[in-house]
Amino acid sequence: MTKGVPMEFLDLVRSKNDLVDVASRYLTLTHRGGNYWACCPFHNEKTASFSIKPDGQFYKCFGCGEAGNVINFVAKMENIDFMSAVEMLAKNAGLEMPSSEQNEEMRKRKQQRDRLFQILKLTTEFYANNLLNNPNSPQAEYIKSRKLNEETIKKFQLGVSLNYDDLPKFLLKNNFKEEDLLAAGVVGKNEHGLYDFYGKRVIFPLCNGFGDVVGFSARTIEQSPEHTKYKNTPQTPIFNKSEILFAYNFARELKKQHLLDSLVIVEGHIDVITCHQAGITNTIGCMGTALTQQHARKIKQLVDNVIICLDGDSAGSNATYKAIDVLKNEGLRVKVVRLTGAKDPDEFIKVYGKEKFLNFLENAIDCVDFILQDSAKKYDLTSNADKTKYVSEALNYISKFSTIAEQEIYLSELQQLVKIPIDALRKSLTNQTNKTTAIKPELEQPSENVKNKYILDSKIMFLAAILHKKVKNFEQIVGFFEGNDELSELYKFLMEKIGNNKDFNISTLFDNFDIAPNSLIDKVINYNFPPDEVFNTMLKDTIKRVKIYELQQQKEDLINKMNNSTDINERYDCLNKLKELDEKIKKEKM
Ligand code: UTP
Ligand code: MN
Repeated sequence: MTKGVPMEFLDLVRSKNDLVDVASRYLTLTHRGGNYWACCPFHNEKTASFSIKPDGQFYKCFGCGEAGNVINFVAKMENIDFMSAVEMLAKNAGLEMPSSEQNEEMRKRKQQRDRLFQILKLTTEFYANNLLNNPNSPQAEYIKSRKLNEETIKKFQLGVSLNYDDLPKFLLKNNFKEEDLLAAGVVGKNEHGLYDFYGKRVIFPLCNGFGDVVGFSARTIEQSPEHTKYKNTPQTPIFNKSEILFAYNFARELKKQHLLDSLVIVEGHIDVITCHQAGITNTIGCMGTALTQQHARKIKQLVDNVIICLDGDSAGSNATYKAIDVLKNEGLRVKVVRLTGAKDPDEFIKVYGKEKFLNFLENAIDCVDFILQDSAKKYDLTSNADKTKYVSEALNYISKFSTIAEQEIYLSELQQLVKIPIDALRKSLTNQTNKTTAIKPELEQPSENVKNKYILDSKIMFLAAILHKKVKNFEQIVGFFEGNDELSELYKFLMEKIGNNKDFNISTLFDNFDIAPNSLIDKVINYNFPPDEVFNTMLKDTIKRVKIYELQQQKEDLINKMNNSTDINERYDCLNKLKELDEKIKKEKM
């Protein structure tokens, strides 16, 4: 069973609905080089980068990264959920939907989600009306004090809660059930009954990408520390904090109008709102939490360039490092602004004005430059020991975050800072990246990150080779996919299909895995194969390298064991094993 209907039924629906056929009802397709091409219906573009592979029965846009099978396509085009798309396609092919309990369950969940959307919409209106009708309430006064004008208040649908009782009364009067109100996260319940979860606070509605309100952040107007500053909607069936970005819906609108080429990421709600009010409308907010990979993916769907502009405190600094990591991981170009003279963008704009803020944005520095400069502050570069540590850290960042071409630029910058000949730096960097020479006396061990990335890339390559039927013998990579991660799941799935001699189609994957653009599985599906001879050499080489890594890991473990042991026999035993391992490593390297 998948998503509420038997797998076989999904197979049937897909086999009876040719993707090219279905897509051609919505798009003008051109046949070129075995694939079909069109302008992407999911983002705005003038040259066709949306492609359909007729043999694999899946689509992929090289512009925005959207990918899927015929069911996903129809769901997106019609703006309906997966099950409704299945239903539509089943009907199209003259198939009867199976009636199962799961189907009923799905329908119920969908209906509940619809009710929650309604509750949030009505609640938003309720709070906005409170603000409108009570301009002298302390909450309304607070909004005034933050210098937010009427237009802004309307755009962000700001509102206020005046007490704890009115909201539940109002919603119950509108015939919503208590259980739905609780599930929507708008009310709480205690011994006196239901109460407004955001009672007496200033309300900031949070929207999904389509502009539907899915939750709230509510700011207290009290000064005392026992009031949590912002109270946020907990996880609900329609609200997931790790994928919501404040004002993302506005960014999406701009993108549709071709008015977006970069995004500024700030921390707070008021920071976002003040930026928008000042006309800097490409600003979104991470709402004080660390950016997740899901956030980064959503950002990448809109832009390639981002500027991180978090608060000036040390928490903001740590968050900046983390954000760089997550955003770079998603393939974004990242710049950084560290504000001085104010704690956050809101205060900055209010004190120094919009022009000065724009000035800071224009002078944003590249994220690796930022790290090189900022991490240098932790060290005393006149001391050799510190310098070594710093160089190691810096090279680690350079190898992690830059392309070969960029590396040269950063190396010459690093050289200026540490006054070590660039050749030496280059050599250390190569060692760090290649990881073949394990011990480097003058510098620390290369980072785990580089090694992990290599192994991850290799796994993607192996799976791509299996999926696209480039290899038949998998013995050499047994033991690689024993985890519970998504790639291991994919491996097991493929092995099961192959073991049962079932012929499978790539489009099947989209029913069994959630395949977001640029996710690991997406990378496997869209793996860019070089010519066969080259690929075969690469494959052999990679298997060898990964084996060497494994052996080196065993070696490290043994050394640890030996160092921790006081038993002379055990130590002797370890030494012998070490010798064996060294032999094996030598053999592999040949
Ligand atoms: P800040 O503490 O910097 O708040 O938290 P701020 O935006 O400057 O707040 P104002 O200007 O005093 O109103 C930044 C963001 O972190 C989240 C909120 O999204 C806030 O905007 N946050 C902060 C919470 O979610 N809960 C909190 O208790 C505090
Ligand atoms: Mn702040």
